Amino acid sequence: MKAVILVGGLGTRLRPLTCHTPKPMIPLVNQPFIEYLLERLRDQGIDEAILAVQYLADKFRESLGDGSRLGIKVHIMEEPEARGTAGAVKNVEHMLDGPTFVFNGDVMTDLDLSAMLSYHQERGSKLTIALTPVEDPTSFGLVETTKDGHIQRFVEKPRSDEVTTNMINAGTYIIEPDIFRYVPPNEYYMFERGLFPVILQTGDPMYGYPSRSYWTDIGKPHTYLDVHHDILIGKVKYKFRGEQIAERVWLEDGADIHNSAQIVGPVVLGAEVVIQRGARIIGPTVIGSRCVVGPDVTIENSVLWSDNIIEEGARLHSCVIGHGNKIGPNAQVTDRTVISDSCIVGSENRLERGIRLWPGTELQEKSVTF
Ligand code: GDD
Ligand code: MG
Repeated sequence: MKAVILVGGLGTRLRPLTCHTPKPMIPLVNQPFIEYLLERLRDQGIDEAILAVQYLADKFRESLGDGSRLGIKVHIMEEPEARGTAGAVKNVEHMLDGPTFVFNGDVMTDLDLSAMLSYHQERGSKLTIALTPVEDPTSFGLVETTKDGHIQRFVEKPRSDEVTTNMINAGTYIIEPDIFRYVPPNEYYMFERGLFPVILQTGDPMYGYPSRSYWTDIGKPHTYLDVHHDILIGKVKYKFRGEQIAERVWLEDGADIHNSAQIVGPVVLGAEVVIQRGARIIGPTVIGSRCVVGPDVTIENSVLWSDNIIEEGARLHSCVIGHGNKIGPNAQVTDRTVISDSCIVGSENRLERGIRLWPGTELQEKSVTF
């Protein structure tokens, strides 16, 4: 069976982390999210994945190639310009030959795909949308169904006075390719604002498949830290690399930890990480490959990608740090701060309140203190 994965978005809400890394390639516990998604599809019997790419397309080609490393056939299909979610599938329509899964490329879920496929086939559905309950549907697509699952109403990003249910579009669809006759070729066209409303008019069978599986859209800054938390406490199944060396502490090859360092799990340390004298790492925390954590540094509830240098006495709390940054002595980076790539934060700066540093930013010592 084939799947189309929509990975062409700009990842605007996750900027600046997505300036050089497309959203589906950002690491979740030291592994690009898309690799996890492809492995999940492979394990659930999907043998070909078509990636509908647009933004930073070369990054997908370099990293995934034809997919043989991951055991699933991967086709990387680039749109001439952004075509929107349904337009992106229309662009690869010639490759589809039967019921096909379509995935938003930024959804972390352990949904049972074969159960959803049976549901779709038993009802003779033309388009089935996985549904999940959320507290606040206003930043999603609201879906109303009848008791038997027939979709009756779809409202993308409803205003709060339009909210009539907490069930939303979970970003996984099964489509019968002939439904794409309603999608105009070579145009920007969305499932959410185009095709779904059209099918409501035509009356083709369209069903919602409600599920209580784990579900998060990782494309929002606060959920990026939350989803790490959920993985590390075991709330969602997610295989990550590393060997368990102590209670809730995992380590990849070549890590070097000073014996005076304190590590309180859940913590994952990538390959060749160096943790120096007196440092404290408190979970849930993930530290990427080749990071160097200096003496007396404290890192808590944070995610660091690879190749960062954190200097003596710095304190990191509830923050996300991209690739190749240098955080100077006694700097404090807290409270949902996001630092992207190749930044230098001089000593004794205090970054907090969700501040975001764009790639290559350099801050002199003590220049930001609030
Ligand atoms: N190829 C391609 N081309 N992909 C695209 C394009 C495009 O022009 N535009 C968006 N995408 C991809 C994004 O990369 C992402 O993986 C997916 O389509 C959904 O886009 P988002 O920008 O993340 O949408 P959203 O999160 O605001 O809303 C969507 O997802 C919600 C669930 O997370 C909608 O489908 C909502 O209805 C849904 O509830
Ligand atoms: Mg999204």
